[in-house]
This record gives sequence, structure tokens and C-alpha cells, in this order.
Amino acid sequence: MADSGESVNKDMKVFVVDSQALPPPVSVRRDDPRLSVIYLLLAVALLGVFIEAGLIWHLYSRPAGPSDIQKVEYIKGEKHTLPSSSHDSNEVLPEKPPKAESKPAAFLQIASPPFSRNGVLPWRSDSFTVFLRGLQYKNNSLHIQQDGYYYIFSKISHMENCNFFKHQVMQRTERYNSMAIELMQSSRFICVTNLSQSRGNSYLGGIFHLLKGDSVFVKVSNSSQVHGDVYENFFGAFMV
Ligand SMILES: *[C@@H]1O[C@H](CO)[C@@H](O)[C@H](O)[C@H]1NC(C)=O
Ligand SMILES: *[C@@H]1O[C@H](CO)[C@@H](O)[C@H](O)[C@H]1NC(C)=O
Ligand SMILES: *[C@@H]1O[C@H](CO)[C@@H](O)[C@H](O)[C@H]1NC(C)=O
Repeated sequence: MADSGESVNKDMKVFVVDSQALPPPVSVRRDDPRLSVIYLLLAVALLGVFIEAGLIWHLYSRPAGPSDIQKVEYIKGEKHTLPSSSHDSNEVLPEKPPKAESKPAAFLQIASPPFSRNGVLPWRSDSFTVFLRGLQYKNNSLHIQQDGYYYIFSKISHMENCNFFKHQVMQRTERYNSMAIELMQSSRFICVTNLSQSRGNSYLGGIFHLLKGDSVFVKVSNSSQVHGDVYENFFGAFMV
């Protein structure tokens, strides 16, 4: 009896100790409503991240639309549109300066003899160094074919024999009813008694805005005073 009671006591004791020392068993139940809400929020957040990643990828992989290119062309002031094959690049290229070879230019040498009754000097446009590009030469004048700013120059070698000498570059334009307008002038009056020293030079050069149809020519007060070789007397223009 005592033995069995003791063993019963021992058993009871162990049971009591166990039941007090261990915390009550907590089972993780999957149907807890709080946990379901957390899972739902996590799923929504992940979905949002994926959608955002997709939008960013779409934005960066979007090809340049034709509307962008037309905008660029409008800024550049060009009327024609780009070829449709250039969609693979949306880079804005800087505007190219006009090619120097395509700009109008001319260089003329004095005709010989340089005689002229009204003082408008005649030129030769057919020798080795002279040329005409984008400008016409007729009636002793250079005729402008393209609107723009032109540097016009003329050099004249003349005698200084107690005669007044005037060198002019003139313009004729419909804006002034085709009357001759003076652009540049130089005048000299020098008496040199030693004829071998009686040479003077006049150089004129300046930039002018000229329109298509305008013409420029060189006039002197007395064409008999013009002196020297073809490379001493010239007239030219070029677009700047
Ligand atoms: C030619 O030039 C002269 C002198 O500048 C001018 O009087 C004449 O009207 C011009 N002729 C023509 C056809 O342009
Ligand atoms: C004229 O000038 C030339 C060159 O300077 C000189 O050799 C000549 O002696 C001068 N003649 C006179 C008359 O002064
Ligand atoms: C023009 O120049 C020549 C040569 O120098 C001269 O003989 C003539 O008198 C000049 N004419 C006038 C109107 O000045």
C-alpha cells in the first residue's frame, strides 16, 4: 500500500510540476482572421511593385514617336519631315552651318581698256582667276540671286595728276525704284609733279544686306584715270 501510494504520489507530483512549468500549448491556427489580413496586404504591396516596374520598363523602351521629330523639325525651322526610317534614334542633332562651297561668291578683274562714258567700270568674267558662283554678271553689274548678307569689295589703282578722283560701289534695287544708291566711296585729290610717283590706290569693302534681283556695280569719276594691270583693279562679293 505504501509503495503504491508513494508511486501515485510521485506520479501526481510530476504531473503537477509539468502542468505548472510549461505554458499552455498554443496552436498556430491558419484560420486566424488577423493573419489573413496581413497576407492580403503583403500581396497587394507586391502587386503594386510589379505594376510600377512594368510601367517604368514601358516608359524607357518606348520608341521616339513621329510627333517628337516633328517638334524638333519645327524648332529647326525646316519644312520637310524626316524620313520614317529614323525612328531608332531620338537624339537632337545640332543645326549644320551652310556649306561654304554652296555660298554665292564672285571675283572679277578690270576689262582692258577700262573705258566707260558714264564711269561704270566694265569687268572681265572669263579669265583664269576670275569666277562667278551663285551670282550673275551682266551690264557691268553683279546681280544677286539669293537674299543674304554680302561682303562687297573693290580695289582700283589710279593716277593722281591734279585731277579729282572718286571711287564708288553702287547698288541698284527695286526697293528704291531701281535708282542707283551709293554703298561705299573714297575720294582723293593729290597733285604729284613727278609722273612716276603719281599712283594712288583705293580699296573699298563692306557688308550689305542684299535681296534677289538687286545689283551692285563700281563707278569712278573718270575712267581714264584708272591705271595698272588686271590684278591691280578688281571687284568681288561673297555671302557671309
Ligand atoms: C545697265 O546699267 C546702266 C548703268 O548703271 C543703266 O543705266 C541701265 O539702265 C542698265 N541697263 C539694264 C538693261 O539694266
Ligand atoms: C621721279 O621719281 C623717281 C622715283 O622715285 C626718281 O628716280 C626720279 O628722279 C624722279 N624725277 C624727278 C624729276 O623728280
Ligand atoms: C580724265 O582723266 C584723263 C587722264 O588723266 C584726263 O586727261 C582728263 O582731263 C580727265 N577728265 C576729266 C573730266 O577730269
